[in-house]
Amino acid sequence: MGLRQDMPTEAIESWLREDREDRLQALWRSADAVRREHVGDAVHLRGLIEISNVCVRSCAYCGLRAPNRDIDRYRMSEAEIMDCVAKAVEFGYGTVVMQAGEDPGIECEWLSRIISRIKSETPLAVTLSLGERPMDDLRAWREAGADRYLLRFETSDRALYDAIHPPLPGRVSDRIVMLREIKALGYEAGSGVLIGLPGQTYRSLAEDIALFRELDLDMIGVGPYIPHPDTPLGQQVACQSPVSWSVPPTEQMAYKVVALARIVRPDANIPSTTALATINQVEGRELGLQRGANVVMPNLTPPEYRMRYEIYPGKACVGETAEQCRTCLRGRIESIGRTIGLGQGGRAKMAV
Ligand code: 5AD
Ligand code: FES
Repeated sequence: MGLRQDMPTEAIESWLREDREDRLQALWRSADAVRREHVGDAVHLRGLIEISNVCVRSCAYCGLRAPNRDIDRYRMSEAEIMDCVAKAVEFGYGTVVMQAGEDPGIECEWLSRIISRIKSETPLAVTLSLGERPMDDLRAWREAGADRYLLRFETSDRALYDAIHPPLPGRVSDRIVMLREIKALGYEAGSGVLIGLPGQTYRSLAEDIALFRELDLDMIGVGPYIPHPDTPLGQQVACQSPVSWSVPPTEQMAYKVVALARIVRPDANIPSTTALATINQVEGRELGLQRGANVVMPNLTPPEYRMRYEIYPGKACVGETAEQCRTCLRGRIESIGRTIGLGQGGRAKMAV
């Protein structure tokens, strides 16, 4: 089985099914070598600000879904966001990521002003991760200076996507089309998938990875599906036994997807995600970084809000402060002999 960037979807699928330890070691080594050759040893830090947990959507997997009445909803003020931004500068992060549920209360002009302030008052890159917003909003935010947009397509299996991701009444939801539009607006575009959704086939996950390549994604974020008890999918998982043809939501499967994403998109920015740190609190972050990833996203959200941003249960860093996440991640990066990236850490232009 080859490990070339242009590997066919069938080969990607075989790797997803691989369970021989020596072969997997070869996959990890190969992804790590591609990572080093194309993006180097620097690990870029993206300060994550979870600006609102309000959401109008009803995704079957996500704890922030609108019908979930058990969470206390919040939306940060401009001043609170700018305090987090100041911490990002103080901590030497190159980017802030403003993330939220799909919250129409985040008004286009309000956010444009905040983006303009960040771009004029700091050297930071600005990444947005705000769900499926109208293209007019995305255009205005790009004009205000936003650099990157993250929108995971979650799965390229249309039937599975429709089952877990109902559109708003009278609307269609096609994130793959949106990603192409996001790129056309001049954003660096990021996407990714959930690994181990009930009913996700190996073939469809292989196709997801091939799509990372086809879309020429600048950023790829993936993580295992973690059942949330207050969601329809979480409740379904709790009372059904898994079927053999469905991809399991395991740690090892997540590393396989990270490694294969690196191989098919050698110069992409790939985070070692919080979901990985959640399923292996001891060394999930480090193993992600050693199997293809080159980015981490330390959380900057004020503690009183981060516990209310419970996409899935047991989320890593919920009890920590911005300072603690900074120290924790520095230590983890240095412990594996990597360096902290300087500057914005945008899409690599050249092999390092
Ligand atoms: N388990 C793991 N990841 C999840 N996400 C949403 N719900 C879950 C869950 N239960 C991921 C989605 C989304 C990102 C912000 O969080 O991929 O795009
Ligand atoms: Fe937040 Fe380790 S990154 S505690």
